[in-house]
Amino acid sequence: MTTLPGSWRYPRVLAHRGGGVLAPENTLAGLREGMRRGYRAIEYDIMLARDGVPVVMHDPYLGRTVLGTGNVFDYDAIELAAMDAGSWFAREHEGEPVPLFVEFAQFCKAHGIWMNMEIKPAPGYDIETGGTVARIAAALFADEIAAGDMAAVPLLSSFSHLALASAREVAPEVPRACLMSELAPDWERRAQSVEAIAIHTNHKHLTPALAREVRAAGYGLFCYTVNDPVRARELLSWGVEAFCTDRIDLIKPDFA
Ligand code: G3P
Ligand code: MG
Repeated sequence: MTTLPGSWRYPRVLAHRGGGVLAPENTLAGLREGMRRGYRAIEYDIMLARDGVPVVMHDPYLGRTVLGTGNVFDYDAIELAAMDAGSWFAREHEGEPVPLFVEFAQFCKAHGIWMNMEIKPAPGYDIETGGTVARIAAALFADEIAAGDMAAVPLLSSFSHLALASAREVAPEVPRACLMSELAPDWERRAQSVEAIAIHTNHKHLTPALAREVRAAGYGLFCYTVNDPVRARELLSWGVEAFCTDRIDLIKPDFA
């Protein structure tokens, strides 16, 4: 199946890392914080544990958001799931677990939360991570895909071209987006080679001309991580279609 680029059919504002900076990132607690504020769309990060089971995690090592030492890939998922991903943030979140990706995605689906799943491979595990996330996403949303309800289906994104290529190989029916901090001169060739439908980029490097170029080529355009409402409005005026934010307190999900 060939996925053609198209305009953004998803929510405009996403909570970054599950719930922005009002709760520990990439946890169910963050998700709940966003839900309390009306958010029903998120971006979050996914990485493989040692046993190949994906977990919701940003860093490839422990220590910043999860109590412990070593790499994520040194532990099985069940071990990570028993670790504390909350106390770095606040005592009230002590014991908040590292979510298993499947459980986290099922929770989102059950609560009508749309997902931008960022494939975040630990170094050297791009192909396995991309393929695993895509396979699971395709299985979880098999009914929606079969029904053509693509607005409900998650969007996979990654900075890793290999991970996106692998996702396309394993589950071409789950849409993909190229994450690029800065748009490379050959951005369109890169997007075409993984049949991406959207470009996700750091708003700090975007210009009105680049935004026009992306939109004119028919790709969706998403920015990370926009925390100032004035800047968000400016980006939307350039043709940016959606963005994620850490400041779910300053920017409401119906921001326009
Ligand atoms: O997916 C957009 C954004 O999350 C990329 O940066 O480091 O927060 O995953 P990072
Ligand atoms: Mg991310």
